Amino acid sequence: MTGQTDHALRGDYSRMRPDYTVDQDWDVYRPEEHALWRRLFDRQAALVPRYACDEYRAALVRLDLGAAIPRFDAINRKLAAATRWELVAVPGLVPDLVFFEHLANRRFPVTVWLREPHEFDYIVEPDVFHDFFGHVPMLFDPVFADYMQAYGKGGLKAHALGAIEMLARLYWYTVEFGLVETPAGLRTYGAGIVSSGGEIRHSIESPEPNRLGFDLLRVMRTRYKIDTYQETYFVVRGFDELFEATEPDFAPYYRTLAAQEPLAASAVLPGDRVYHRGAAPTQAA
Ligand code: PHE
Ligand code: CO
Repeated sequence: MTGQTDHALRGDYSRMRPDYTVDQDWDVYRPEEHALWRRLFDRQAALVPRYACDEYRAALVRLDLGAAIPRFDAINRKLAAATRWELVAVPGLVPDLVFFEHLANRRFPVTVWLREPHEFDYIVEPDVFHDFFGHVPMLFDPVFADYMQAYGKGGLKAHALGAIEMLARLYWYTVEFGLVETPAGLRTYGAGIVSSGGEIRHSIESPEPNRLGFDLLRVMRTRYKIDTYQETYFVVRGFDELFEATEPDFAPYYRTLAAQEPLAASAVLPGDRVYHRGAAPTQAA
């Protein structure tokens, strides 16, 4: 998730470097934290075979994340060999430009702190479990890894063009809450879904949300919910589609979008490729 938040940030920002990175300080994690990690991991790992895409699952089995909060440097050796990405430790959410700059250089910021036990089911800000379990496996997929870097570069550009909000919607509906069509049915690759005990099922099986074909401009026009399950999920037919759709220069798209009203998170448009129409979506004009 990007660094847009209205409340005081959780995390210790007192010892960071200018690029917001810190040392992971793995030895400081307490036994209870490793135990909580194991509980979070076990619940999600049991759901992954049914709901996550092959690319995610293939990486997860290679990573051996089940025993304890992972050491970033151990994972970095595997990640560098796979896609030349690198994890960097951060205190928590970082400003948009810092985030984009890291992605543009194939560095993924991972929050160091773990949630409290009472946040087992739901957490407002990304913690090490969300960042790690949700995002890191997908960085092992070569096409998705390139998409993430392109997104970082695009973010730096969008910032200069005043279009961060539109680009953030793309991140939200792909990197965080994206679905992919597979021969076995819809599966998730989105980090916000795959790290969530409830939404992973909801996103694939619930009759409530819309599931609509990915369309770049449509997605960048669509508002999103941050405090409930998503009302709409967008489906790509593969990561090549995502990469290719986002390759063109977005500057003219941003001009087009600036002249249009954003769409409600629940909207279904006549031109949408509808996989599933939600139980009670608001009809848009
Ligand atoms: N092609 C986009 C641009 O010109 C950059 C981008 C790539 C944005 C991939 C998002 C994802 O701004
Ligand atoms: Co995230």
